[in-house]
Amino acid sequence: MTDTMIAVIGGSGLYEIDGLEGAEWRDVETPWGDPSDQILVGTLNGVKMAFLPRHGRGHVHSPSSVPYRANIDALKRLGATDVISVSACGSFREEMRPGDFVVVDQFIDRTFAREKSFFGPGLVAHVSVAHPTCPRLSAACLAAGRDAGITLHEGGTYLAMEGPQFSTLAESKMYREAWGADVIGMTNMPEAKLAREAELCYASIAMVTDFDSWHPEHGEVDVTEIIAILMGNADKGRAMVRGLPALLGTERTPCPHGCDRALEYAILTAPD
Ligand code: ADE
Repeated sequence: MTDTMIAVIGGSGLYEIDGLEGAEWRDVETPWGDPSDQILVGTLNGVKMAFLPRHGRGHVHSPSSVPYRANIDALKRLGATDVISVSACGSFREEMRPGDFVVVDQFIDRTFAREKSFFGPGLVAHVSVAHPTCPRLSAACLAAGRDAGITLHEGGTYLAMEGPQFSTLAESKMYREAWGADVIGMTNMPEAKLAREAELCYASIAMVTDFDSWHPEHGEVDVTEIIAILMGNADKGRAMVRGLPALLGTERTPCPHGCDRALEYAILTAPD
């Protein structure tokens, strides 16, 4: 039986968790280059944990320059079984308000300037991302968040944009009205696709910081407003993470949805 290791990819504030035992920042090398930063590993209530600051400590990587392949590979090499993405997002829905969390279950990938796969010439594979998040892991996040008193929305479609600029008003309206997206952010793609290629369970918690630009009663997106909401959210994010070890347990059973077997029928290249 494998040990559970819960990996959290998120911003600062999340990894200052009370009760994280044996905490140590580790360097991890990968064939895809360096991850965004060192990775903080430790044990929480007997369960192995890893924390990776997506933009690096000091926020040095833009959404387009985050080394997504190195990040996912580094977590895999450390023994991660479950990856939880925590990120900021804009909301396209009146009821998804700043301060709320959305347990995302679908994505529309509009990113175009990022490496999106571990596979390519020489080793060709096509994995399914029809259901890009893990229902078991998402349910654990939902339960841990609700136990912590957080307002969470179950399910939602996340539009991943390239950035770094926010959307125009016309784009914002199109994503919301014609495309049916619920939230918008710049970081969950290709992270979710790579996690599936690496056979890791992946859940995404999108923390609403603003109403993007479509909302008639709210102005344009303002980065200072985003930061203010994010600071207020750090406590909530930590409270959710603290509840996860008890829900996921120390021993890892096979994923009932097959996330950990995603490559079983995916590789087309013949073995040497
Ligand atoms: N991150 C937080 N708010 C955002 C928005 N409105 N658009 C894209 N990324 C975001």
